[in-house]
Amino acid sequence: MFVGSVEHPAGVDFVILVSMDWSAYVHPILGALVTGLVFALGNSGLRGRGSGRGARQFRQFHARLGPWVCAAALLAQASGILMVLSVRFDLSPASTMHFRSGTLLVCLLLLLFWSRSFMHLMIVRQLHPWVGALAMLVAGAHVFFGLQLIR
Ligand code: HEM
Ligand code: HEM
Repeated sequence: MFVGSVEHPAGVDFVILVSMDWSAYVHPILGALVTGLVFALGNSGLRGRGSGRGARQFRQFHARLGPWVCAAALLAQASGILMVLSVRFDLSPASTMHFRSGTLLVCLLLLLFWSRSFMHLMIVRQLHPWVGALAMLVAGAHVFFGLQLIR
């Protein structure tokens, strides 16, 4: 909702409440998609544990999907900032809790992306799913903060 005020000749200030421009919904829709992808990625990673044939297929799918999810999250982060700068004049850029949780989510995903080069190390293999679980928790909180920005 855009909030503005108009001064009446009689000296009374009117507050105008305008609902969110339709284009401002592009980011929340993309964001919801990215959140779904993060959960699908985490799910495939967790189901990829073990040595069964099914587990190997899940691991392959997980490893292939990972870079796309990272790219999509970067796009969502950029589109969020762009929306604030172009249509959500009631918000100031990089000032919300949603911005901070989005930045944390992107950093965690990039850390997971980077860790794939060290998967041969036991410690990285053990830590990777925990960082991934943290990313999923942050993604859940991130949706919550995002919904609070919808007007
Ligand atoms: C269901 C998921 C999401 C919802 C409902 C949501 C909602 C919103 C809304 C309503 C805004 C204000 C701009 C606008 O109206 O378009 C916003 C801004 C933003 N969003 Fe999202 N978002 C979601 C997911 C994401 C994701 C996945 C990311 C990045 C990883 C992200 C990053 C941002 C950023 C960086 C801003 C700008 C905030 C600022 O500058 O303070 N959002 N989001
Ligand atoms: C969403 C959060 C994530 C979770 C919960 C998660 C979880 C896991 C788990 C449980 C494994 C199996 C480890 C084992 O062998 O015991 C795994 C492997 C792997 N993950 Fe993730 N992961 C996540 C995100 C990512 C991301 C963003 C990437 C980036 C590309 C990635 C790349 C990989 C790779 C390359 C492997 C090794 C696959 C193989 O051995 O063939 N993961 N992950």
